[in-house]
Amino acid sequence: MLILGIETTCDETAAAVVERREDGSGRILSDVIHSQISDHAPFGGVVPEIAARAHVELLDGIVVRAMTKAKIGFADLNGVAAAAGPGLIGGVIVGLTTAKAIALVHRLPLLAVNHLEAHALTPRLVSPLAFPYLLFLASGGHTQLVAVQGVGSYIRLGTTVDDAIGEAFDKIAKLLGLPYPGGPHVEQAAALGNGERFALPRPMLGRADANFSLSGLKTAVRQVAERNTPLTRAMVNDLCAGFQAAVIDSTVDRLQAGIRLFADRVGILPTALVAAGGVAANAAIRSALEGVAADADVPLMLPPPNLCTDNGAMIAWAGAERLALGLEDAMETAPRARWRLDEAAAVPQKFVNTRANF
Ligand code: KG4
Ligand code: ZN
Repeated sequence: MLILGIETTCDETAAAVVERREDGSGRILSDVIHSQISDHAPFGGVVPEIAARAHVELLDGIVVRAMTKAKIGFADLNGVAAAAGPGLIGGVIVGLTTAKAIALVHRLPLLAVNHLEAHALTPRLVSPLAFPYLLFLASGGHTQLVAVQGVGSYIRLGTTVDDAIGEAFDKIAKLLGLPYPGGPHVEQAAALGNGERFALPRPMLGRADANFSLSGLKTAVRQVAERNTPLTRAMVNDLCAGFQAAVIDSTVDRLQAGIRLFADRVGILPTALVAAGGVAANAAIRSALEGVAADADVPLMLPPPNLCTDNGAMIAWAGAERLALGLEDAMETAPRARWRLDEAAAVPQKFVNTRANF
C-alpha cells in the first residue's frame, strides 16, 4: 500500500510517500520537508499568517518533489493523507484542501489524519511495536501522555495545564536573549552552567494525576533574571541549567505517575515507553527517560530524530494504518484547529469552565 502524506499544521511544509506492507511493516520512499524557521525567527515564534502563506506557496512543489523522489506516479498511490488538525487553521486548510484535490482528481481514498495520532503511530513505521504502549509527546505545541491501545484507541493520561515543554524552553530562551527556537540553545547553555545556583520550583511533584505545568517555573526564572539584570553569560548558563534540571525533575515525576495510571487504566504495563516531539532531542531529557523506563522495567523507544519532529512520513503512515483498517474519510471532512486525540478525556477540574485548550 502506497500513501502520500501531507503535513502543514505548524511551521513545517512537508510531504512524503510511505509504503505499508501486508505484514504491517513500513518503508519511507521519500520524505521532503521545508522548515519555515528562518521566516519566523525574527518574531521569536511562529506567526500564523506567515506560516499559512508559506504553505500556500510551497506545498505544490513539495508534493511534486516527494512523488519524484519516490519514483512513482499518482496512479500508483492507494490513498492521500493530510493532517486535518489540530494546528494553526490556515495551514491545516492548505494541506487538507490539497489532499482533497489530489484524491478527487485521481479517485483515491482521503485520509484526514489527526496530527497527534500520527505522532502516536509513527514508532510502528520504523520497528515492530505492539500495542498497548505509552507515548510521551513533547513538542512546541503539545505535552501529552497517551496510552496507545490500537489505531483509533487512545487514552490521554496527562497533558499540560499551561505551556507545552518546548514552548517553555522557547520562552525561557527569549527571556534570556537566546535565539529562536530556544530548546537547543537552552540545552547548550545548560551544559555550561550550574543548575544549583538558583533555587527553582519543581512543578506538580507528587501529584497522583499525570498532568504537567510549567508556568510557575517560568515565572520563577523570570523573577530571578529580573533581580539579576544585567545578566552575565555565566548567569544565563546557570539559569538555563537550573530551568532544565527543574523540567527534568518534574517530567520524571509526571512520567512515573503516567506509568502508574497506565497500569490502572489499561490493566497491564505498557509494551514500551515511546518519546516523540522536538523536546525528545534534548540529551539530558533523553537520559532521564532512560532512567524512568529502566526503573519501571519497560523498554524505551526513541524514533530517529527526523521522525520525532513534524514530518510528512508520519502523516502518510497514520493514513496507511487507518486505510489498512478501512477507515477512509469523506470529502466533507472539515479542518480542525482543535482536535483531541481522546475525545472523552476529562478536562482537569480547575479548567472545566475555562477556554483552556485540552
Ligand atoms: O516537534 P517539534 O519540532 O515541532 C513542534 O512543536 O510541532 O518541536 C519543536 C520544539 C521547540 O519548542 C523546540 O524549542 C523544542 O522542540 N526543542 C527542544 C530541543 N530541540 C528542540 N527543547 C529542548 N531541548 C532541545 N534540545
Ligand atoms: Zn507535532
